[in-house]
Amino acid sequence: EASGLVDRFGRRATDLRVSLTDKCNLRCSYCMPPEGLPWLPSERVLTDDEVIRLVGIAVERLGVTEVRFTGGEPLLRRGLVDILRAVTALRPRPETMLTTNAIGLERLAPALAEAGLDRVNVSLDTLDRETFRRLAHRDRLDDTLAGLRAATDVGLTPVKINSVLLRGQNEHEAVALAEFALAEGHELRFIEQMPLDAQHSWDRGEMVTAAEILAALQSRWSLTPDPAHRGAAPAETWLVDGGPARIGVIASVTRPFCGACDRTRLTADGQVRNCLFATGETDLRGALRSGESDEEIADRWRVAMWGKLAGHGIDDPSFLQPDRPMSAIGG
Ligand code: GTP
Ligand code: 5AD
Ligand code: SF4
Repeated sequence: EASGLVDRFGRRATDLRVSLTDKCNLRCSYCMPPEGLPWLPSERVLTDDEVIRLVGIAVERLGVTEVRFTGGEPLLRRGLVDILRAVTALRPRPETMLTTNAIGLERLAPALAEAGLDRVNVSLDTLDRETFRRLAHRDRLDDTLAGLRAATDVGLTPVKINSVLLRGQNEHEAVALAEFALAEGHELRFIEQMPLDAQHSWDRGEMVTAAEILAALQSRWSLTPDPAHRGAAPAETWLVDGGPARIGVIASVTRPFCGACDRTRLTADGQVRNCLFATGETDLRGALRSGESDEEIADRWRVAMWGKLAGHGIDDPSFLQPDRPMSAIGG
């Protein structure tokens, strides 16, 4: 509709990603330093009711049809089940998803499914306990695997697995991860590492590229382009040995998909980000707490999205990494 979230390049944001906390129980080296980060002060974090109100504005007034909850780690948010129940009660009912490391999902999956969650994406970078401990600085591989199984058992499917490969650490695991995902019936997507880590240690030359990953997979399987329409999905997918199993690559750096972007983001402290790499934000928490109406807040959101840039510009000489790290954006 004309009153939705459109930008000056004609893109329409219908996919809302909501970060529910900046905290995490892992310390993946491409995201957070081992000692953690200064967390958002709790008075700045949106309450459950505030999250529900803003998501309601997005769904009822701004044409958002998909709501994905992220973190940090969204399972650490105490009100998650209540937020989900309220969001799935909105009309038109949005599709709801979660991006999680799955730690704690073994216990929470039934309640999440019951609250109306549609599906989950699980981050899993290695199947080797020692490598997991080294990459994530926590010995939690078994918890992640148990959570993944629980999600599948309660039907939060199709479960997609996200893997980031790091040079010299888990880069040799592409085939093993794919074999695991194929055997378990999950869609695996390899993600090119993006310059969003708090430590600013990203190095384009060190990044494991989509081309390398595909070459590794093609040594084991025949991959043919997936005829399914990609739409605005970040993942490019291939059929494995003729299908129906699929495998994907999210090549944000070497094959940017910004031209089809349909995303808008809300941080745990109530700021709209019109792009993963935006350097500016729009404060909705302040608007909310100063008593603005739903329509006034919706207007701020529209203005925020109108200013969205054409793309992330990682390859521009003037590229600046956003101040807010990945853990506080939610990916
Ligand atoms: P599906 O709809 O299930 O395919 O989810 P998704 O891939 O959009 O979401 P997910 O949270 O699983 O993200 C997977 C990877 O894609 C993460 O590394 C995200 O940072 C990245 N990603 C998601 N949205 C965008 C985006 O708009 N731009 C870029 N560059 N990367 C994105
Ligand atoms: N580059 C690419 N993907 C990342 N993720 C976290 N940090 C980065 C990064 N710097 C991934 C996580 C998770 C998803 C939300 O984003 O592994 O699967
Ligand atoms: Fe959209 Fe920005 Fe991601 Fe590009 S980098 S796909 S514009 S959110």
